[in-house]
Amino acid sequence: MALEIRPITDDEVEQAEFITTYSFNSPDRRDLAQAVERSRRFFRTEWSLASFEDGEMTAFLRVLPSAMHVNGRGLSFGAVAPVVSLPQHRRKGHVGALLRRALADMRERGQVLSGLHTPHPALYRRYGWEIASVKRIYSFAPKEIDLAAQPSERGRMRLLTPDDWAEADRLYRLHSERRTGPLQRIDLWWREAVFGASRPVPADIALWENNRGEAQGYVIYHQPAGQDDQPGTMPVRELVALSADAYLNLILYLLRHDLKQEIVWYAPPDDPFLSLVADATKVKVREEYDLFLRICDVEAALKQRPLAHPEHQLALTLQVSDDSAPWNEGTWRIETADGAVQVERTAGEPDLTLSATTLAPLFNGFLSPSGAALAGLVSARSEQALAAAAAFFATLYPPFCADGF
Ligand SMILES: CC(C)(COP(=O)(O)OP(=O)(O)OC[C@H]1O[C@@H](n2cnc3c(N)ncnc32)[C@H](O)[C@@H]1OP(=O)(O)O)[C@@H](O)C(=O)NCCC(=O)NCCS
Repeated sequence: MALEIRPITDDEVEQAEFITTYSFNSPDRRDLAQAVERSRRFFRTEWSLASFEDGEMTAFLRVLPSAMHVNGRGLSFGAVAPVVSLPQHRRKGHVGALLRRALADMRERGQVLSGLHTPHPALYRRYGWEIASVKRIYSFAPKEIDLAAQPSERGRMRLLTPDDWAEADRLYRLHSERRTGPLQRIDLWWREAVFGASRPVPADIALWENNRGEAQGYVIYHQPAGQDDQPGTMPVRELVALSADAYLNLILYLLRHDLKQEIVWYAPPDDPFLSLVADATKVKVREEYDLFLRICDVEAALKQRPLAHPEHQLALTLQVSDDSAPWNEGTWRIETADGAVQVERTAGEPDLTLSATTLAPLFNGFLSPSGAALAGLVSARSEQALAAAAAFFATLYPPFCADGF
């Protein structure tokens, strides 16, 4: 049977939304018109790819254009969501074919990186996406938490509306300046994905200003509907603080939501909350894998990757295998001088041999080269080669992306 792969047309939005809402068992499935309307409002059909078997749409994905910070620089990034197929057409390779084609398209568009979230790690590993960050999840009863430090000033909290998104964005940009993982957020992303302006229960965003009226942090959280008069869970999606006073005041603000039985806070892995809590036994802590990263264009991504420590001068040769994106295969010589990175193909001996799948978490500073060697994912010529790779792939902060998509 003939398999065709192409972007959907405007007439095919409804079938794509049906496959999506059915696959995720979304409530919108019962109100498909609303899902179609939202899709038409927010997404362009050229961001989509669908497979058609004898003319029938069988699977669908979308790649949202974005940029992800790596050591503070935004690298062009394709955010893949959703990926879905109809149950009667699953395990026929249609999604695999879509993912391969999406990789070629992203490379063509200059999207050197791609990311997604998934409960199916084994599926995406086959195509080169790999776990490249974790989130730390705290859960605690607000009434049980005392802090070992207090802010030097109380300042003022202010609730933002979606129209105020630029105030939060200014702080988010400052916070992302040297980090790895944050996505660049545009107006629409703030309003819809962060504030959830058109969802039944939008997020709350509270901004903290110091006594001089300077905004220095914000926190994004949800208060699920119908629970105002009952104990419930309050998820905290993001806390951005540019100063200790902002951090402490934002946490005190959260703790004052004392009708809530539990706060569940999705934090970066280097968050210092546990060091601040008077009795850490009152906080449950766990970690979950988070973003899956894919290097769509190895040569361009290596060239664009800013060094954490530009003063390091190093040379490194990587031999990369990549079944799903063969343009990445080969041996690449990396040389750095005065912060500039040069990358070219070489016939020389590799220092490190690895797959593009393993390169992604190295690139993001999630997996260390020596850790990858220990796990048998990298073969290294020498200890010095591992040290050079560690210097090249160093990040100033552990990777973390607060955005779900
Ligand atoms: C997950 C989903 C998209 C897979 O679609 P599919 O059409 O079965 O995928 P394919 O047939 O193209 O699979 C490609 C390969 O991955 C394998 N694979 C498929 N789903 C897998 C899974 N969940 N875990 C591991 N491997 C998987 C297939 O066996 C196939 O391997 P093969 O080439 O050796 O035969 C589909 O089951 C689905 O829509 N599920 C519900 C929604 C969902 O979970 N979406 C993904 C959210 S990230």
